[in-house]
Amino acid sequence: MKKIVLTGAAGRLGSYLRETLAKLADELVSSDLVPDLGKLLPNEQYVCADLSDLTTITALLKDADMVVHFGAIGDEAPFDDILQSNIVGAYNIWEAAYKNGVRRVIYASSIHAVGMHKKTDFIGTDAPHRPDTYYGLAKCFAEDLASLYWDKRGVESVCLRILSASQVSNPRAVGSWLSYDDLIQLVEKSISTPVAGFSIVYGVSNNDRAPVDNALASHLGYRPKDNAEQFAAEIYATQPALDPQDPSAMCHGGPFASVELGNSGIATMNIIPDKKEI
Ligand SMILES: NC(=O)c1ccc[n+]([C@@H]2O[C@H](COP(=O)([O-])OP(=O)(O)OC[C@H]3O[C@@H](n4cnc5c(N)ncnc54)[C@H](O)[C@@H]3O)[C@@H](O)[C@H]2O)c1
Repeated sequence: MKKIVLTGAAGRLGSYLRETLAKLADELVSSDLVPDLGKLLPNEQYVCADLSDLTTITALLKDADMVVHFGAIGDEAPFDDILQSNIVGAYNIWEAAYKNGVRRVIYASSIHAVGMHKKTDFIGTDAPHRPDTYYGLAKCFAEDLASLYWDKRGVESVCLRILSASQVSNPRAVGSWLSYDDLIQLVEKSISTPVAGFSIVYGVSNNDRAPVDNALASHLGYRPKDNAEQFAAEIYATQPALDPQDPSAMCHGGPFASVELGNSGIATMNIIPDKKEI
């Protein structure tokens, strides 16, 4: 492949993807809002670009074979912020992909597109959208946009409904963990699969207590290797028990299922900011 574009390259998950993506193409173009990404890989260039600007994003995707779209506000936020970065930003990515003849978009969707479903429902990738926040609503919009651009314009997409791609630091993560190695495998498979069309897959490791079903995404060949059960005993012994009447314990979206719209969902999740350095 000649060129891959990565958005959200300065973010935590982007930092784990850059080396792998650089190996899969002659050229990796990494992009984000920061003025400077720091040290770059030999075949990597950095472009500062705001997702909400269609002209900029159209230029960014010129001659790209695929785009790995991880740039977004990664938390619940006021609607106007979500509207620009996550909704208009998503439209700009798919529209720019179409205009430039980009073959496939690999998209960081989220469990929060279906976050109000009960965890006792073992949901598949065909579960109806049931967002828990404006953030989740924007992920629903982008998944539907991906579907529309496949049906009407032939742009392939793989929507990765990531659960929790961070160290296991709370009881929910014993089911929802996506290890960084499995995230990398998921993105690699999404790129290398010969035919993706419009696909949805849950981004979750091979956890004994994974609350979602990837059977309908089997064609991607994603076979996660890590299992959060290794952390279960310690997490359950040291963290307060979950209240089964609380939506944040009952629903797939965790804390996002109970926050007021516009307020941070990740503030209470004890996420460890372990960005990878090049
Ligand atoms: N971390 C998780 O567990 C998780 C779970 C589900 C989905 N996701 C999704 O994965 C992606 C990456 O998540 P992350 O944890 O690395 O988040 P992050 O906040 O560390 O990274 C997101 C990056 O997007 C950039 N960005 C935001 N608005 C932008 C704009 N208008 N233009 C250009 N860039 C912009 C930010 O500067 C940031 O560097 C996000 O789309 C997030 O919604 C993450």
